Amino acid sequence: MVEPSEIVRPERPTEVPKTKQQALLTDASVSALWKYRLLIVGDLRWSAFLRYELLTMFLAGLGGSLGLWLRQKLYRFLFHRMGRGVAIGRYVTLRAPFRIALGDRVVLEDFVLLDGRGDSEELPNLLIGDDVFIGRGTHLVCRGGTIRIGARANVGPNCLIQSVREVVLEDHVLLAPFVYIAGATRHYDRLDVPVIGQPTSSRGVRIGRGTWVGAHVFIDDGVRIGRDCIIGAGSVVLHDIPDYAVAYGVPARVARLRTPQGPGPARCRGLELSGEEHKDS
Ligand SMILES: CC(C)(COP(=O)(O)OP(=O)(O)OC[C@H]1O[C@@H](n2cnc3c(N)ncnc32)[C@H](O)[C@@H]1OP(=O)(O)O)[C@@H](O)C(=O)NCCC(=O)NCCS
Repeated sequence: MVEPSEIVRPERPTEVPKTKQQALLTDASVSALWKYRLLIVGDLRWSAFLRYELLTMFLAGLGGSLGLWLRQKLYRFLFHRMGRGVAIGRYVTLRAPFRIALGDRVVLEDFVLLDGRGDSEELPNLLIGDDVFIGRGTHLVCRGGTIRIGARANVGPNCLIQSVREVVLEDHVLLAPFVYIAGATRHYDRLDVPVIGQPTSSRGVRIGRGTWVGAHVFIDDGVRIGRDCIIGAGSVVLHDIPDYAVAYGVPARVARLRTPQGPGPARCRGLELSGEEHKDS
């Protein structure tokens, strides 16, 4: 075992490199208004700025059915595309909304944040399919990557999904409250630079059709979860999960496979077991 006295602690450099965001936000040569137009409106044209200001200033906090109705009718001028029958609650924050597409009958509850920011030429960055429900206080943040949410998915309250590359929730995925999907990994190889100054990388996350993710689950970057899985509450998912698996724990491990009859036996030994074999056991 390494004794604390044996660890060589390098001198910290006086100058720690700024993150891209820190560099932009603290750049004194750029006006606060320009930063706002870039980071919040996401479109440097003055027409986009005026449209964003007028609509969000007067409508974002407007209560009652009038607020809902006016946002349904007028917010369509902000988005890349907005389907029919969309319901947008109060104090929904939109960043770079022209990079966001909403399908028909999408519901965004109060205090949702949708951030479509990214450099890609291809639009939209954030795509929400038909009949999707996004719960109160949930944040969907494209930090340069894309987020795609399939039809009839349900993202519970207070979830955080970040994407630096690609995050996909296929159709009918159900996320319980407080799910966190990290869209990137931080590297920490060097001791002379704080972690915040070290590079990040991203492989993306995919959750298969019909999967249910329990409350307070963390899903690491690079993870693929198969279709119709169940991920138990409080799990930390670090590795891929195969189709039809019930998995939980820290780190999440497959406990059994679901079968057509319902839950399979907890003592299921191998993932190669078919539904027929479960029936006989
Ligand atoms: C994963 C889950 C579906 C399993 O339910 P189940 O099949 O009825 O499992 P059981 O309750 O019979 O538990 C079987 C074993 O797994 C363990 N277990 C179950 N869920 C667990 C979890 N989330 N984390 C750790 N262990 C768990 C139990 O302690 C039990 O262990 P034991 O055999 O040593 O006693 C359920 O526990 C769960 O986490 N549901 C999510 C609830 C949720 O987030 N709801 C939000 C509303 S959408």
